[in-house]
Amino acid sequence: MSDQVQEREHFGSKLGVIMASAGSAIGLGNIWKFPYEAGKNGGAAFIIIYLGAIVLVGMAIMIAEYVIGRRGGKNAVGSFKALAPKSLWWIPGLMGVIAAVAILSFYGVVAGWTFEYLFQAAKNSFAGQTPDALSAQFTSFIQHPYRPVFWQLLFMGITCVVILSGIKKGIERYTEILMPVLFVVILILAIRSITLPGGGEGVRFIFHPDFSKIDGQTILNALGLAFFSLSLGLGAIITYGSYVKKNDNLISTSIEVIVLDTVIAILAGLAIFPAVFAYGIEPGSGPSLVFITLPNVFQQMPGGMLWGILFFLLLAVAALTSSVSLLEVVTAYVSEELKMKRRTAIFISASVITVVGVFCSLSQGNFNSLRIFGLNIFDFLDTLASNYLLPIGGMLISLFVGWRMKKEDLLDELSNGGLLKIYAFGLLRFTLRYIAPAAILFVFMNKIGLI
Ligand code: TRP
Repeated sequence: MSDQVQEREHFGSKLGVIMASAGSAIGLGNIWKFPYEAGKNGGAAFIIIYLGAIVLVGMAIMIAEYVIGRRGGKNAVGSFKALAPKSLWWIPGLMGVIAAVAILSFYGVVAGWTFEYLFQAAKNSFAGQTPDALSAQFTSFIQHPYRPVFWQLLFMGITCVVILSGIKKGIERYTEILMPVLFVVILILAIRSITLPGGGEGVRFIFHPDFSKIDGQTILNALGLAFFSLSLGLGAIITYGSYVKKNDNLISTSIEVIVLDTVIAILAGLAIFPAVFAYGIEPGSGPSLVFITLPNVFQQMPGGMLWGILFFLLLAVAALTSSVSLLEVVTAYVSEELKMKRRTAIFISASVITVVGVFCSLSQGNFNSLRIFGLNIFDFLDTLASNYLLPIGGMLISLFVGWRMKKEDLLDELSNGGLLKIYAFGLLRFTLRYIAPAAILFVFMNKIGLI
């Protein structure tokens, strides 16, 4: 796979595509970010806006990314270049590569936290601790000068190993087995959490909206989270799309991936909020929420230590299948556009990301006073990527497929050359041309107070 002369690798089956894409989508975004953002932004009302963003904007953009990737047949930048030569349309692709670097930098840090918690679960060190003690334990860990960095380096190393083994044998093989197991474990945790005494309040929190808490910033957060969680806006799905075979159905694949991702996010919410209320944890505690809530739940379960191990193991795996897709965006770009061997490309990309990531990790402790626009490096990269680069990237992707791509070409790609019957093609194209870009624009104008 060292250069474009060789034929590019492809996913082996449609199930493989769905599992790899769902593996990219399902990750810390669903299980770590979704609950804490929902908690910080008032619960049900935020979740409704998040779901609205998925239906109105996310679905069409996921389909658009697959179309660009499979038709362009290359990395995020190269696919745009192939479809629109001698134009500036490579810019959204490059923005995506930058966003991937930004996201993976802090993503690797949080993924590292899951390793520490796996290790703690295996030592049975949550047993008998009060909610306050568990919370203090988390804070002192993430502020530690090298412990989180150690786990982060390990995680980035494993990500490289998976990518090195290629598409079919690496990415596809792992996700096919592990994603279904993750689903079952979260389901069981949700049941345990809902049946805790006092858990009902948490269920209310997720399902009874209070729209008075919603403002421009919350709406932007919900939109950003929808992009983040579905892996949209930076070319991850473009890159995976380029490995999809010509006879797979892009629309049904997108729908299946979106349904899986959304179900996991809601289940994660159901596993976390009842426990948050049962143990008197602050729902708006931010990034620590999952890490301080679930250890309390494990304590209340027969075989809690094993559940803890299983959960953090699977969370680490879910993070891995996502980080792999982020590193693949950068690697495919570096190897194909900057013409490097795939191995070299992986090494260079991962090194840059890891160095930035170490600063993200340190920004939880010693480097916290280093601020960009008032945010520490970790929060700055998260906000920059999730709230700005992804939605803007998504808007450009939508405009590209809606306006620049010929209608016949879009139909041809979606129907696999006329073999599949496409329902609601007009609606999809209308969404790409008008609804999705307008919705994203509206959110930005609303945020800066223009509407
Ligand atoms: N979607 C992943 C998650 O929820 C994170 C992720 C992987 C991502 N690839 C992406 C986010 C591409 C945005 C774009 O954890």
